[in-house]
Amino acid sequence: MPVIKSPITREEFKAYYALRYKVLREPWGHPKGTEKDDYEPISEHFMAVDEQTSEVLGVVKLFEKTPGVGNISHLAVATAHQHKGIGTLLVGYVEKRAHERGFKTLGAMSRVTATAYFEKHGYHIAGIPAPNLGTIHVVWMEKELGT
Ligand SMILES: CC(C)(COP(=O)(O)OP(=O)(O)OC[C@H]1O[C@@H](n2cnc3c(N)ncnc32)[C@H](O)[C@@H]1OP(=O)(O)O)[C@@H](O)C(=O)NCCC(=O)NCCS
Repeated sequence: MPVIKSPITREEFKAYYALRYKVLREPWGHPKGTEKDDYEPISEHFMAVDEQTSEVLGVVKLFEKTPGVGNISHLAVATAHQHKGIGTLLVGYVEKRAHERGFKTLGAMSRVTATAYFEKHGYHIAGIPAPNLGTIHVVWMEKELGT
């Protein structure tokens, strides 16, 4: 049974970033370090962990992009655990947190391969696709959060 928590200890942060690297960077041959960006210090970090084994199953982070606009970023679910609702759990958790923080809009720089996923969660394309790290194209998607 997955539970959502924020990494706190050094070991938890190591496991959190390791999953991000494994799913979002390693398959494209990007070097270690590219899994982090300038927004790490101002982000809230969340991970879905197996309650029994403490295995990290999925990760996501949230930061304020501009006043009132939240940014979901680095959403990734371990390959062996995809299609089990973990991504949906993480997106729902971040949306609740964004609402609590008073954000009016929540968005993500979605990979073009994941736009249908975000559309399923109510997001629409609100930008122009652009290359990211030289290998994948990303596009800004967003949705308004209810009051
Ligand atoms: C995209 C991702 C986060 C989804 O998480 P998940 O836990 O596998 O997805 P969920 O179990 O919550 O949802 C599964 C549903 O979403 C759909 N889905 C999953 N990935 C999808 C994608 N890339 N595009 C469109 N639909 C997708 C599934 O078909 C499934 O639909 P169904 O319920 O009708 O069968 C995960 O597959 C992943 O980490 N992918 C690789 C990294 C990535 O693309 N991250 C997003 C970066 S912006």
